[in-house]
Amino acid sequence: MILVVKSGGEAAVAEWRAGFAAHAPQLDVRWWDEPGLDPARVEYAVVWDPEPGRLAGFPKLKAIFGSGAGVDHIASDPHLPPGVPVIRCVPWEAAQRMGEFVCWAVLSLAKEARRMAQLQAARRWENVDPPFAAAARTVGIMGLGAMGEHTARMLLGLGIPVRGWSRGRKSIPGVESFAGAAELDAFLAGTDVLVCLLPATPETQGIIATPLLAKLPRGAGLVQVGRGSQQVLPDILAALDSGQLSGAVLDVFAPEPLPAENPAWSHPGVIVTPHTASLPTRAERARYIADVIAMLERGEAPPHAYDPARGY
Ligand SMILES: NC(=O)c1ccc[n+]([C@@H]2O[C@H](COP(=O)([O-])OP(=O)(O)OC[C@H]3O[C@@H](n4cnc5c(N)ncnc54)[C@H](OP(=O)(O)O)[C@@H]3O)[C@@H](O)[C@H]2O)c1
Repeated sequence: MILVVKSGGEAAVAEWRAGFAAHAPQLDVRWWDEPGLDPARVEYAVVWDPEPGRLAGFPKLKAIFGSGAGVDHIASDPHLPPGVPVIRCVPWEAAQRMGEFVCWAVLSLAKEARRMAQLQAARRWENVDPPFAAAARTVGIMGLGAMGEHTARMLLGLGIPVRGWSRGRKSIPGVESFAGAAELDAFLAGTDVLVCLLPATPETQGIIATPLLAKLPRGAGLVQVGRGSQQVLPDILAALDSGQLSGAVLDVFAPEPLPAENPAWSHPGVIVTPHTASLPTRAERARYIADVIAMLERGEAPPHAYDPARGY
């Protein structure tokens, strides 16, 4: 049973192979561009950003796994083989790492970490006195899915008030739930730190722009860990310059890598991180994918399958 991998480059195949060997030794793990590979023998694929049309070249494909939680880079392929499930890779560790990252980002904004790093670089001993405790500011999470819900619980554990916005209403203890476009403005009006954990879809494209940012209380913080396509970066920088935003942690960009000349790199109100919020180890992701393959082979419905009708 052949599984092809296109994630992390050819150099990562050995690590993927070792990960799968521990949990699914029946899988023959191959690099996607391996010379002599017979496409007709490939049954599973684990991919990140595959070249459009390539997946359609495997006629016996049973499932396509994203090597991360978002599969927009696969779903955008106009030649995606019909009827083959696209499955997101969401092991427990992915949500845990995301929650850790967002807690760090929210605390970094509250504790003015960027300013402290600047002072240290300049060898200046100056008091940094945040005007509020982190727990005095409500965090609003856009997207309360696998990542958002776990993140909400971790923030609550720090004593930070949390509200969330999603398509459907949620009942997560301690989290005020806002649903759908009609409740977005009310959600934003009470959000002091906005966290974006939405998937990339036509509806979320460019959502983090001046009109939305203007609906936040003045001096709000922003943590963007969704996808770069969701933001208008010049609008974010303008909101920082005007004081509408007090600080931002930006992990995702369009394009990536963020070009060296982009002003976000040096903006005093921005912490740039290189799309690194949550990436579980390859061993952990291989274990998760091996478990889902076992479910598929038993004829069970896989968890976290991409739904083309919803777009995520
Ligand atoms: N930076 C990183 O390292 C990193 C790592 C992992 C994931 N991510 C990003 O995080 C995203 C979320 O991952 P996930 O596993 O939590 O996804 P998920 O389980 O599919 O959850 C998506 C959430 O977004 C909500 N949503 C989708 N479209 C919406 C809309 N138009 N309006 C309001 N709410 C909407 C959904 O609402 P319902 O619950 O009502 O359906 C759901 O709560 C991924 O797609 C990816 O872009 C980034």
